[in-house]
Amino acid sequence: MVEETKLFTRKEVKDNSSKDNVVIIYDNGVYNVTNYLTEHPGGEEILLEQNGEDATEVFNDIGHSSDARETMKKFKVGELVPRERTDKPKTNASNESSSEGGSFKLEDFKDWKYLLPTALTVLAVAYYMYYRLKSSNSTTN
Ligand code: HEM
Repeated sequence: MVEETKLFTRKEVKDNSSKDNVVIIYDNGVYNVTNYLTEHPGGEEILLEQNGEDATEVFNDIGHSSDARETMKKFKVGELVPRERTDKPKTNASNESSSEGGSFKLEDFKDWKYLLPTALTVLAVAYYMYYRLKSSNSTTN
């Protein structure tokens, strides 16, 4: 028997979620984690908070292991309808391509540690030259 993938809209996922039916969206898939609540190493509270929601970002942010991702497959009950899917998975990798257009990434600031000593050196030299000039001026007058 070939099982069809059940398709849900985001609204349906939300409307069908309740205390006894905990459903989350992850990477366009729909997962019923009701029977996993007490087993979840991260605690049931955090799953309940995401009930009916798209937990893709928060799931990825936590950095779940490949084991966790494997376990997750057991709870898949369907997928989002094609028109409501996100093209790009909301992983950290997708943020990297958004660096164009002048937005700053934390990595950019790593190079700033060189800027401070350089700026201080330039300032010290300028300060030294200024006083040398000033004192040579005052001796000539
Ligand atoms: C079916 C879905 C899920 C499965 C199978 C799952 C599985 C796991 C597993 C196996 C761990 C232990 C650490 C690891 O192996 O990565 C874990 C930890 C954790 N999970 Fe999940 N998880 C799921 C969904 C979620 C969601 C939606 C959230 C957030 C809203 C979440 C938040 C956490 C947190 C906070 C930890 C603890 C991390 C730590 O203590 O370092 N999990 N999860």
